Amino acid sequence: EIEEKASDLLSKMTLEEKVGQMTQVTLDVIGEGEDIYSSFEPFNLDKELVRKAVSEYKVGSFLNTANNRALPRQKWHEIISEIQEINSEENELNIPIIYGVDEIHGATYTVGATMFPQQIGQAASRNPELVKKGAEITAYETRASGIPWNFSPVLDLGMDPRFSRMWESFGEDPYLTSVLGVAMIDGYEGEDNNIGDPHHLASTMKHFLGYHAVTSGKDRTPAYIPDDVLREYHLPAFKAAIDAGSHTIMINSGLINGKPVHANYDLLTKLLKEELNFEGLVVTDWADIENLHRRDRVAENDKEAIKMAVNAGIDMSMVPYEYERFVDNLLELVKEGEVKESRIDDAVKRILKVKLALNLFEVPVTHYKDYPKFGSEEFEQEAFNMAAESITLLKNESGVLPLKKDVKVLVTGPNANSMRTLNGAWTYSWQGEKTPEFAADYNTILEAVENKLGKENVIFEAGVNYKNDGKYFEEEDAGIADAVKQAENVDYIFLVLGENSYTEKPGDLNDLYISDLQTKLAKELAATGKPVILILNEGRPRIISKFEQEMQAVVQTYLPGNFGGDALVDILFGDINPSGKLPYTYPRYPNALIPYIHKPSEEQTKAEGVYNYEADFNPQYPFGFGLSYTDFEVSDLQIDKTDITQNDTFTVSVKLSNTGNRSGKEVVEVYSSDLYASEITPDVKRLRKFRKVELAAGETKTIEFSINTSDLASVNPKGETMAEPGEFEISVNNLKKSIHLKE
Ligand code: IFM
Repeated sequence: EIEEKASDLLSKMTLEEKVGQMTQVTLDVIGEGEDIYSSFEPFNLDKELVRKAVSEYKVGSFLNTANNRALPRQKWHEIISEIQEINSEENELNIPIIYGVDEIHGATYTVGATMFPQQIGQAASRNPELVKKGAEITAYETRASGIPWNFSPVLDLGMDPRFSRMWESFGEDPYLTSVLGVAMIDGYEGEDNNIGDPHHLASTMKHFLGYHAVTSGKDRTPAYIPDDVLREYHLPAFKAAIDAGSHTIMINSGLINGKPVHANYDLLTKLLKEELNFEGLVVTDWADIENLHRRDRVAENDKEAIKMAVNAGIDMSMVPYEYERFVDNLLELVKEGEVKESRIDDAVKRILKVKLALNLFEVPVTHYKDYPKFGSEEFEQEAFNMAAESITLLKNESGVLPLKKDVKVLVTGPNANSMRTLNGAWTYSWQGEKTPEFAADYNTILEAVENKLGKENVIFEAGVNYKNDGKYFEEEDAGIADAVKQAENVDYIFLVLGENSYTEKPGDLNDLYISDLQTKLAKELAATGKPVILILNEGRPRIISKFEQEMQAVVQTYLPGNFGGDALVDILFGDINPSGKLPYTYPRYPNALIPYIHKPSEEQTKAEGVYNYEADFNPQYPFGFGLSYTDFEVSDLQIDKTDITQNDTFTVSVKLSNTGNRSGKEVVEVYSSDLYASEITPDVKRLRKFRKVELAAGETKTIEFSINTSDLASVNPKGETMAEPGEFEISVNNLKKSIHLKE
């Protein structure tokens, strides 16, 4: 039905109307005043500018927030209603506007919305149900702002800790990313992808493809990715998400093998639209069509860039530098025969189908009054639960944690008293810097500790501060000596280190070690002899090996959201048993950034027992690592069939026992290793299944996994995905069993 309606509409549209649909303009372009972007004045639409966009240029989409900051949902409703109204007065076919925004860990641009941990923390929870629930709430609260399109989830792999957007990913593993990506999409769109339901919205898989795999580690720089590598690691999560029905996709701003992805016909049309059969809408990233000319220099002018991108398979241009010129240029290109009208029709039909699926023709803007649960305690509880399940205990020497509640503590470090760092970027503003007054409703780590112990038992000295002067990583000594002096007045030190909030280019980094000032603070506190509990609040694993051995405990919070402080403190004092697991490999040295998925040669000297073991794969903490306050034992690995054929399914089972004295949650992971392969050296091991299980003290459960031969597959140089006949090892913890795949 949607297909028919879209075709019918398309047949009635002029070329001008079609090209306008392919244009997406940022809100600031249609606001009142001259320097709207940096202004803090209340935002108002300039009706004449809106009219010009929708009437003269037939613009079909808008995005982003005004003045780069969160707005009350009433204000969102007013803005979007006004745009839709002017649009309907001006356009005969009455095709509604589609509005999009980045609500990547909650409805982040709406005042009072529920803020979840960022994706990297959600991945640490290993709990797809919670991820789905969080996305459902985000969809609800985004729709409560009248916005039907969310630029989330990120399905790029967080394999490189140097990359400034690692925390926006689900970590380094393709399978984990696939499972959680699908869970998030199910939450946003509903399992049946009925996005016309006003509680759901259109999701965006991003950034297709290989965006994080840059050689230099810096944002939007070249990546060199052979086709088999692209398919083996980077493609599976997108494929799973397309199969799960996600309606839209955003393109990688970078270059792969020297070619800008926005102009790559093989990736956008042949792979995405033809091979993967993606029928949804392909949107660029910010100004990335013109960037083909202005930055990447594969087009001699903007018009040439538009021709390349649209012919490669782009359907909608996000924020052309000057949208009027984009429209004019594209119209000319069609008239000159440089872009076929059939390509325009394909693009516009995809856009119309999403608008129809969202039911925007009937309900152009949802109303905040219909969303009584917005910001409710019920939703906040879910955000708390996610934070509690994501926080990861990495070290607990002599069982120092959990602490008793009758202790005195020093809370110190640049991240100890900041809502901004708890949330990270894309929170209230792009870089997370405009944390507004209402964030005071939530507890920083310091405030949460004070609530738990009473203010009289807590001493605070920042020690080090971020300067927050626009340079994200500049720090200052804010009294390291004072913090060290206070150590003598307390029983324990909570040292809260990490990073300021950042994303994209502003997050580019030259040194992965945690800063010199923070290292100094850590070392001097450790030298006092008081037990130091290191609490990390960071978007990527900053290297801590210069002082990690001097810390009694290490807890990773990632970017845990508005309830991260409360959840952390419940863990420190034993009200919650930690169950988070690292979604990446925590490196020990900057020149040893080796993910757990690697080839045997990364472990060669270890295997041979020769010198220089330190330079082998030897992370600070491995992928999947995370301690509990109870003890778990895995035993009795069984496989029901050890001789298998292609398309066979077999069952792997283990017994999981809680041998400690309190209940807890543990993650059981099944890995496979292809022992020998032809042509492409197999990875040492690959995650194939996982499940989080709750066990009471003393309880034992049998955990079963159904595995198909196709789950063991890898990509060969011809680009084919298949499991090669031969021996495979199946492992759970240190238990292993072999299976044989017959010819
Ligand atoms: O969705 C984002 C993208 O991830 C980075 N560039 C801007 C887009 C829209 O805000």
